[in-house]
Amino acid sequence: MSAAGLAPDAFERIVFFTGAGLSAEAGLPTYRGSGGVWHEYDWERYACQAAFDEAPDRVWDFHDLRREAMGSVEPTRAHEIIATVQAAKPNTVVVTQNIDGLHQRAGAKGVIELHGSVWRVRCACPTSIQENHELPLASRTCPDCGAWRRPDIIWFGDALKREPVEAAVLAISNADLLISIGTSGVVYPAAELPRLAQQAGAVLVEINPEATPVSDWFDIHLREGASSALARLWP
Ligand code: APR
Repeated sequence: MSAAGLAPDAFERIVFFTGAGLSAEAGLPTYRGSGGVWHEYDWERYACQAAFDEAPDRVWDFHDLRREAMGSVEPTRAHEIIATVQAAKPNTVVVTQNIDGLHQRAGAKGVIELHGSVWRVRCACPTSIQENHELPLASRTCPDCGAWRRPDIIWFGDALKREPVEAAVLAISNADLLISIGTSGVVYPAAELPRLAQQAGAVLVEINPEATPVSDWFDIHLREGASSALARLWP
């Protein structure tokens, strides 16, 4: 048995459900709490469709800063442990709210990005979604269709895309172990997803130095950082 009496290797359908706290140890700010992104930037001016319609350059200035920050850090020990577990247990699924791509850079496969990725842009072209890692984005308008490019991420007020949500619901509803890492559990509909694992009879683990409004759904609470908690679960 390792941390908190849990033997994670006894489980076969593990879901890692991650939020910004997982990348905090890489040096990226979370959204809420001290130093949070939304304390420094008003999302209504920088991260919603209305702001983009009103001032696309202001919104892109903000997102270029986020791309620069996310491109300048490395995956953490926690990201690496998650990828290693998945390599050993192929039924392991990563469902993330993060847009930073650090799971993929650590080697995780098939990552379900509920809120999109800062490394993709879309425009009015029919084949519109493109992978783009330019720092900063070289052209904020599409050279083909001439429309403004938009970060392919879910902004406040946007509906989540059906495909990642369906994939997340399927994985979480079939999980026998769900490990939530670094999420405040306040942004719906993503925040609701761990309840599906609870209803399916899975064991739920919350890794977060602080309690959250959804902590009661969890069986085990590891009140510490992501890397130290995962290193105890998989020593
Ligand atoms: N290890 C684990 N958890 C941590 C760590 C750490 N080292 N440091 C901070 N945390 C926790 C905080 O206690 C907090 O509960 O991470 C959580 C981060 O919460 P948020 O900043 O709200 O991030 P998140 O839950 O991912 O936000 C959800 O909100 O703004 C939208 O789309 C955005 O995907 C984001 C969504």
